[in-house]
Amino acid sequence: MRTIYAHRGMSSLAPENTLSAFKLCADYRVGWFECDIDILHDGTIVVSHDSTLDRCTNRSGLLFDINKQDLADIDAGSWFSHDYLEEPIPTLDQLIEVMNRYKLNANIEIKSCESNVQASRDLLDGLNAALEQLAPEREYIISSFNPILLAEFKKIRPEAPIACLFENQTLNDDWHVIMEWTGAQYIHPQNDGLTREQVKMFKDRGYKVNVWTVNAKDRANELFNWGVDGIFTDFAQNFSR
Ligand code: G3P
Ligand code: MG
Repeated sequence: MRTIYAHRGMSSLAPENTLSAFKLCADYRVGWFECDIDILHDGTIVVSHDSTLDRCTNRSGLLFDINKQDLADIDAGSWFSHDYLEEPIPTLDQLIEVMNRYKLNANIEIKSCESNVQASRDLLDGLNAALEQLAPEREYIISSFNPILLAEFKKIRPEAPIACLFENQTLNDDWHVIMEWTGAQYIHPQNDGLTREQVKMFKDRGYKVNVWTVNAKDRANELFNWGVDGIFTDFAQNFSR
């Protein structure tokens, strides 16, 4: 079973990490998407890749400096296209509603909360509470580059499927120690420079392997031939059935 994950939603067709980008997955029959979550000053969990507002909204400054009430005034769509004027930054609760309504599954990536320990704790507790609202037939994976967050979340929610994200330069000999320590079943390595031998090493230890970010079809086919289970892509429409 080869899984296509729409990276940040259908992010080449709609602004990344917005409800529009996620809903488009249903139109293209892409069953899984990836998204990133972070926390606001008042504890509201939102969907955002960056810890600042600068790149993907009409505002600037730290995400952690705003509160839920500020979201109504923030446009996270028009940087992408005027068609998405006033598209909001979604909350995690809204994301869960979309998953339920559109029958979509998600890889939810936890970002690092500016190294604020209390904010990290609140984010993990809030994520656990939000997942309680997920319909039982929906699937999810929780991923992060930060193994401490993953290990902590696994304690809060032991049944959660966990994925360790690795960049090329952090994929060292101790990778499987991190996997075991977090209780991960999935390894999510970076595409650039990933070799057949590395994929074999992951599979030999029984892990599912999902690779980010793969936009070229030839490379996707090569990875699948090596035994990779899934890819994250910005062009899921090119892979949909
Ligand atoms: O989860 C795969 C991928 O999204 C990790 O990198 O920076 O796009 O969140 P990034
Ligand atoms: Mg991500």
